Amino acid sequence: MTNNKPVKIVETVLRDGPQSLTATRMRTSDMIPVLEQLDNVGYHALEAWGGATFDACLRFLDEDPWERLRTVKSHLKNTPIQMLLRGQNILGYNHYSDDVVREFVHRSVDNGVSIIRIFDALNDTRNLEASMRAAKEAGAHVQGAIVYTISPYHKAEDFLHLGEELVQMGADSICIKDMAGLLSPYAAEELVRTLKSKIDLPIDLHTHFTSGMGDMTYLKAIEAGVDIVDTALSPFSCSTSQPCTESLVATLKGHERDTGIDFDGLHDLADYFRQVKTNLANEFHLNTNIPIDPKVLTFQIPGGMLSNLLNQMKEMGTADKYEEMLAEMPKVRADLGYPPLVTPTSQIVGSMAVLNVALGRYKMIPKEVKDLIAGKYGRTPGPIDPELQKLAIGDVQPIDHRPADDIAPQLEEMKDRLAKAGYPNATIEDVLSYALFPDVAITYFNNHRK
Ligand code: CO
Repeated sequence: MTNNKPVKIVETVLRDGPQSLTATRMRTSDMIPVLEQLDNVGYHALEAWGGATFDACLRFLDEDPWERLRTVKSHLKNTPIQMLLRGQNILGYNHYSDDVVREFVHRSVDNGVSIIRIFDALNDTRNLEASMRAAKEAGAHVQGAIVYTISPYHKAEDFLHLGEELVQMGADSICIKDMAGLLSPYAAEELVRTLKSKIDLPIDLHTHFTSGMGDMTYLKAIEAGVDIVDTALSPFSCSTSQPCTESLVATLKGHERDTGIDFDGLHDLADYFRQVKTNLANEFHLNTNIPIDPKVLTFQIPGGMLSNLLNQMKEMGTADKYEEMLAEMPKVRADLGYPPLVTPTSQIVGSMAVLNVALGRYKMIPKEVKDLIAGKYGRTPGPIDPELQKLAIGDVQPIDHRPADDIAPQLEEMKDRLAKAGYPNATIEDVLSYALFPDVAITYFNNHRK
C-alpha cells in the first residue's frame, strides 16, 4: 500500500533545534515576534515545549516554563503545540510517582499542549502507562515513541512488536525516535515499511543529522510511506539537529507527496532565526558550528556526550585513555543488555566505561549502574551479563514489576515542602516545577513570587 498523501512536517525550531545547537538557550521573547508567521506556514505541529526546555527555562533563562507555554499558545490559532515527555521521568531525570505524572500531563494540556510524544529510554512500555493514560484522559493526541537503536535485540520485528504494544495502549500515532542519528536510509525504509504493514496509525520519523544521513533517511522513509517528519528551519538544522525544513519542502515540490508549504515564504523566518542564533551564540559564548560526526555510527554516543565524557576523563587525569574508553563503551552496553543510549542510559553506560578504563573493569560500580541491573529503570532489551550482575548486586533479585509501583504518591508532600519553603499558596504549576527541579524552582520563585 503506497502513501500518496502530502508529507506532514513538525517544525522543531522552537525546541529540539535550539536544544541541539544552542544548549536550549532560546528565550520566549525570541519566539514571540514570529509565532503568528510560524502559525501560518501550514505545519502539522510546532514542537515548542518539553525535552530540556523546562529545565533550561528555570535554570538558565530566568523564565517560568508554564508561562512560556501559555504565551506561545496565545499566538497560535491554527497549529497545535507538540511536546516531548520522558514517560515516568516527566521532564526530569528520576522516576516520579503516578500522581505527579498525571497532574503534570493534565496541566500541560490545560496550558496549551495538544500533542504529547512520550518515550522511555529502555522502551519499557510499563514506564509509559501512567503518562499515556493521563494524556488520553486530558484529551491530548498521544504519540507513542519507539526509541531507535542498533543491537542484536533491535531488529525491525522487535520495533514492530513495540509499536503494536503502543497501539494497544491507546497511541494515536507512532514516532520512530532516532535521537542519535543512527537510522540509515535503507534501515529507515525497511522499518517504516514494516510498521506501516501492520499498524494503521500515522508514523512520524524524528532523526538528527549527527551522522550526516538525515536527508537521505527521510527521503527513503517518505518513499516507504512515512506520514510525518520532523525538521528545523535552516539556521537551527543539520549538524546535531534535525534535517532542514526548507530543503525538504524543496525536495518534494511538485512530487505527489508535496508538503504544500510555500518554499519562498520560509526565507523570512529563516533570516529571523539566523539572527536569533547569532545573538544567542554571542550572549552565551556558544560554538554553534558543530560539524557532522559519522563516528557516532560506531560509538552510538552523540557528539555532545562524547565531549562530556572526555571532560570527565580529564578531571580524573585519564584523558590519555580516551580511545580505550571508546572501545569499552560498546562492551559495557552489551553487558548491560543493550540499552538505547539516550538520557539517562547514555550517561550510565558512558560513566561506567570511563571508570572501567581508569580503575579496571567493574572495579567500581556506581549506584545508577546497580539500579539499572536491579531493574529499577525498567526492563533492559537484552539480558544483563550474569557475572556483572553477581558483582554488582550479589544475590539480590532484580525487580520484575513496573518500577513506579514502588514510588508512593508525592504530590501532597511536594505541596507541603513548598509551603514550608515559604510558598503556601503556590499554583499547581509551581508545585510541579518544584517537584521536578526543586533548587532552581525555589531560586526562580524567590526572584519572582515574592
Ligand atoms: Co531529538
